[in-house]
Amino acid sequence: MLSLSSVNVEIAGIQILRDITFELKPGLTTVLIGRNGAGKTTLLRTIMGLLPLKSGSLSLGGADLAAEPAFARAGHGIGYAPEDRRLIPEFSVEDNITLPALALKLPAAETRRRLDEVYTLLPELQAMRKRPGGGVSGGQGKMVALGRALMVAEKVLMLDEPFQGLAPALALEYARTLDRLRKEKPSLALFVTESSPNLLQKITDVMLRIERGSIENS
Ligand SMILES: Nc1ncnc2c1ncn2[C@@H]1O[C@H](COP(=O)(O)OP(=O)(O)OP(=O)(O)O)[C@@H](O)[C@H]1O
Ligand SMILES: [Mg+2]
Repeated sequence: MLSLSSVNVEIAGIQILRDITFELKPGLTTVLIGRNGAGKTTLLRTIMGLLPLKSGSLSLGGADLAAEPAFARAGHGIGYAPEDRRLIPEFSVEDNITLPALALKLPAAETRRRLDEVYTLLPELQAMRKRPGGGVSGGQGKMVALGRALMVAEKVLMLDEPFQGLAPALALEYARTLDRLRKEKPSLALFVTESSPNLLQKITDVMLRIERGSIENS
């Protein structure tokens, strides 16, 4: 569904991603493993349109995604939870979650429907919906960022190192949430980056490794 073909990306004239080719498929969880600086975040930012392609192609459902400006990509059903969760501290948890729906100018009824879906999947978010974004713990903030990404993730959900900084018990709970998500949204293509495959073993359908900007397709 979301496919990259021979993608090359440079930052400040230095080649960071090299000849990347792979596809995310509906209903499958693809895990991208790579150490610090391997290029995981750069790859996700490229898919979101925050970095331009130097060459290669990027498409979603056969349509050219690279031609779409960054602000339009979420509208195609791609949700993204960045490494640092970047909540707006003065906004309530619920307002943080619904912000992307506002940006996409979704009708109120559709926003409500998606929000209810998020609360069904992540009931702990409903319990803290009125708290300010700045007043939640690191682990809770990760859940809020997941909920926010889910608001737009009709087709693809991309999570950048979601376990980083989580205490082991919370990481386990987060992994269970992802497992539930796979069952409740069976057509979703899930793309998760991590430095180690351990926590994701149970939910991995396809594993890719990135090293110095290259993915070894096995
Ligand atoms: N804004 C930037 N300017 C210059 N170099 C950058 C920039 N952003 C990333 N890089 C370089 O690109 C490479 C890949 O970085 P990236 O952040 O994508 O790696 P990563 O796999 O996400 O690492 P981490 O596990 O630390 O998050 C690194 O060598 C990094 O130094
Ligand atoms: Mg990164």
